[in-house]
Amino acid sequence: MSASAKAEALIPSEILRAPVVPDLFGLSVGVCERSGLHMEFGVATGRSLKIIRELLPIDIPLYGFDSFDGLPESWNGFKKGSFSTGLRVSLANTKLIVGLYENTLREFVDLNPVLLVLFILIVIFIRQRRQF
Ligand SMILES: C[S@@+](CC[C@H](N)C(=O)[O-])C[C@H]1O[C@@H](n2cnc3c(N)ncnc32)[C@H](O)[C@@H]1O
Repeated sequence: MSASAKAEALIPSEILRAPVVPDLFGLSVGVCERSGLHMEFGVATGRSLKIIRELLPIDIPLYGFDSFDGLPESWNGFKKGSFSTGLRVSLANTKLIVGLYENTLREFVDLNPVLLVLFILIVIFIRQRRQF
């Protein structure tokens, strides 16, 4: 079994079947200014990150945040660790910020002080008590 197939086997089937909405992404990316930060929180196998990457001009950096360890706690029938991939998607001009958001966001903000956020996709289900 390929690494990608193994990773997908860990993902609940409801999510694998869930539609991604490239038109919505396209619309959102299309109205964004060019300068500023383009970020996705919740990369997993990189399905939506790849779509965003294809929609964005290649000279614009894209940032994907994820621990890649899956959900940090159980949520609504999904067990802790659901969506864990062990994979790191590799895309041109796209940087993965690996770790829990609450551990990585502060340093990212410090390194990117011109914080104009233009496009952000957040795929988090859990009402986490964590502080970002
Ligand atoms: C539903 S998946 C993302 C699906 C993905 N956008 C796609 O298109 O298939 C949610 C992701 O959020 C990540 N995640 C959830 N809470 C996190 C946290 N506090 N810090 C880092 N990653 C987190 C999980 O590791 C998981 O990969």
